[in-house]
Amino acid sequence: MLAIEVGDMRYRFKLFILVALLAMAQSDLAGAQEGTAERGRAFFQRQCGVCHQVAQPRIGLGPTLQGVIGRTAGSVEGFNYSPALKRSGITWAPEILDRFLADLAALVPDTRMAQRVPDEQKRRDIIQFLATP
Ligand code: HEC
Repeated sequence: MLAIEVGDMRYRFKLFILVALLAMAQSDLAGAQEGTAERGRAFFQRQCGVCHQVAQPRIGLGPTLQGVIGRTAGSVEGFNYSPALKRSGITWAPEILDRFLADLAALVPDTRMAQRVPDEQKRRDIIQFLATP
């Protein structure tokens, strides 16, 4: 590598910093793109679709997520919510849904929903999908 051939320590250090910064910038780009509804649909079908419907207002193991963005948490008629979610006072804006999916219990201790989405990109994609009529 170039750094090994250059004798000057300070130059090598600067080069090292530059390479580190470039690597950081790159991983940042790779890690934080806008969500796309198309990818979100696929993730949703795999990870959420067993319990949640989106295309129809039907209740399954989980409440329907049709029109969930902007909805009050725990408000689907006829679904037996946990008391915790019902009294959470949350309105499902994208940012708070992101926090919920990242760490369910941190936001709503004792929620019955169990499927976390630790991957930020996947969360963005799923939320984009849910926000797309
Ligand atoms: C094993 C079944 C199951 C899976 C899989 C599941 N959920 Fe849930 N989900 C539930 C249940 C049950 C609730 C109600 C939780 C409560 O009452 O505390 C819920 C609630 C929710 C709510 C709140 C709805 C409302 O009306 O307030 C959202 C949003 C949600 N889930 C999103 C998701 C997403 C996104 C996924 C996929 C990453 C997912 N869920 C996967 C069972 C599931």
